[in-house]
Amino acid sequence: MPDLIACLPGDGIGPEVMDQAVRVLEHLPVDVEVVRLPFGGAAIDEVGDPMPPRTLETCREARAVLLGAVGGPKWDTGGPRPEAGLLGLRKALDVYANLRPARQGDIDLLIVRELVGGLYFGARGVRDDGTVFDTCEYHPDQIERIARRAFELARGRSGSLVSVDKANVLDTSRLWRRVVTEVAADYPDVELRHALVDSFAMEIVQAPERIDVVVTENTFGDILSDIAAAVTGGLGLAASASLGDAGPGIFEPVHGSAPDIAGTGAANPTAMLRSLALLLEHALDRPELAASLVESVDEVLASRPTPDVGGTATTAEFGDAVLASLDRTGVVRR
Ligand code: NAD
Ligand code: IPM
Ligand code: MN
Repeated sequence: MPDLIACLPGDGIGPEVMDQAVRVLEHLPVDVEVVRLPFGGAAIDEVGDPMPPRTLETCREARAVLLGAVGGPKWDTGGPRPEAGLLGLRKALDVYANLRPARQGDIDLLIVRELVGGLYFGARGVRDDGTVFDTCEYHPDQIERIARRAFELARGRSGSLVSVDKANVLDTSRLWRRVVTEVAADYPDVELRHALVDSFAMEIVQAPERIDVVVTENTFGDILSDIAAAVTGGLGLAASASLGDAGPGIFEPVHGSAPDIAGTGAANPTAMLRSLALLLEHALDRPELAASLVESVDEVLASRPTPDVGGTATTAEFGDAVLASLDRTGVVRR
C-alpha cells in the first residue's frame, strides 16, 4: 500500500512551489500516492471554507501533509480567512512541535516553536466599549511537552538549548520559564540558558553561529523564525516540520503566499523542497533520500539560483535542475 501524501498547495506562490515538490516526490524511489486538496483561499473560493471537511479527513488519513502557503489580499475583506484553515489544521492534527531549521555557512540553528497554544488560540473577543482582545494562554502540560521535545532534539545535536520568553513582563512567560527549568532536571547532559525575546532577536542577527537549539512559544517563534531565515539567505530558503506525538505531520515552508511575486515565476522553491526533505526524514523514515535531496537543492542554489538569492532561474528551471542533479547523483527514478 502506498503512503498517502496530502498536498495542500494553497494560494499565491503556494501552488507554484508545490508543483516542483510534487515533481520531485514523484521522481524519487518512494511508494507514495499524492492527493491534492483545496485549502486556504483557494478552498474559500471553491466551497466557502478554508479547510473543507474532506480536506481535513484526508489529512487525518494521510502519512503526511505537504503544504504550500495560504493567504493574500483577496481574502482580507472581512469574510472567512485562509489563515484560519491553517490554524485549524495545526490544531486538529495537534502538531505542537514546529521545527524550523536555519543553516548557511557557520550558522546551523533550530527553532522549536510551540504551535498550538498561546496568543493564536487563547480567548478573544470584543468588549461593549469596542476594545478588541486576544489572550495569551498556556497550560503547564503544553509547555512541558514542547520543552521535552526541544531537550531531546538538543541532546541529539550540540547539547545546548536556549529557551526564549518575556519573563520580565508576562505571567505566561514566567510559567514557561518555570516548567522548562523543571524539565531540565531530566536532561542533565543538556545545557539550558534562558533569554528574553527582545535581546535574543538581536542575538540572532548579530551572532547566529553561536546558537544551536531554541525553544519558544508560538508568537515569538513565528517572528524569530523569519529573522533566522533572513540571516541565512531569506524566506525562500526556510523549511519547517510540524509534528505531534502520533499521526501525520505538516511539512511547509516558513514563508507565506508572497503575493508580490505570485504568478511571475520568481518564487524560490527551496523552502518547499527542504520541507519535502523533512517529510522524507520524519514521515517516510528515509533520511538517506532526504540528505540526497538537500544536497541537490544546495548544489542548484549555487549553480542556478532564483532572483531572491541573486540569480535568474525561474521556479520551474530550479526544479528542472534539482531533478537533473538527483539523476546525476544516482538517486534512481521510480
Ligand atoms: P511572505 O512570506 O509571503 O513574503 C514576505 C517576502 O518574502 C515577500 O517579499 C516575498 O516575495 C518574499 N518571499 C517569500 N517566499 C519567497 C520565495 N519562496 N521565493 C522568493 N521570495 C519569497 O509574507 P507576507 O507578504 O507578510 O504574507 C503574505 C501572505 O502570506 C499573508 O496573507 C500571510 O497571512 C500569508 N502567510 C502564510 C503562511 C503560511 O501559509 N504558512 C506563512 C506566512 C504568511
Ligand atoms: C507561519 C505563518 C502563520 C503563523 C500564519 C499564516 C497563520 O506566519 O507559519 O509562520 O503565524 O503561524
Ligand atoms: Mn510566520
